[in-house]
Amino acid sequence: MLLVYMTITGNVKDFIERVDMKSHEINPTNPFHEVSEDYIVVVPSYENMITEEVSDFIDYKGNREHLLGFASSGNLNFDDLYCVNAKELSAKYSKPLIFTFEYAGTDKDLENFKKEVNKIAVSPINV
Ligand SMILES: Cc1cc2nc3c(=O)[nH]c(=O)nc-3n(C[C@H](O)[C@H](O)[C@H](O)COP(=O)(O)O)c2cc1C
Repeated sequence: MLLVYMTITGNVKDFIERVDMKSHEINPTNPFHEVSEDYIVVVPSYENMITEEVSDFIDYKGNREHLLGFASSGNLNFDDLYCVNAKELSAKYSKPLIFTFEYAGTDKDLENFKKEVNKIAVSPINV
């Protein structure tokens, strides 16, 4: 199981490092990287950014076949736009948004995220 992520100011990267699972960071200027294992995409939220680069990654070669779902960092002050990019991606690819958190996430968020990952992972991870 791989965590594929994007980060602009570092919050998602911080979260991913604390989750301590195998990961791949999408390079926004060259998102075209092929993966050969199941993955969950973890993205920040920036209204008009993110969705396109992440779509480029998912649509590249056979990557879409391995997509299991999405998780997202956002800020609840954005109300209806909370985690907007992950919601768009979830609808576009018909895959679940399994978890949302604010900023870099709390320790409780890490724990709950891992539980959600285990619900959709074929091989359980350590929680
Ligand atoms: C310019 C800007 C726009 C943002 N837009 C949204 C938004 O539409 N929805 C949301 O939930 N959070 C929004 N946020 C909050 C970020 O997604 C949040 O801080 C996130 O943790 C950033 O992750 P990163 O540090 O990995 O880039 C925005 C933040 C900034 C600075």
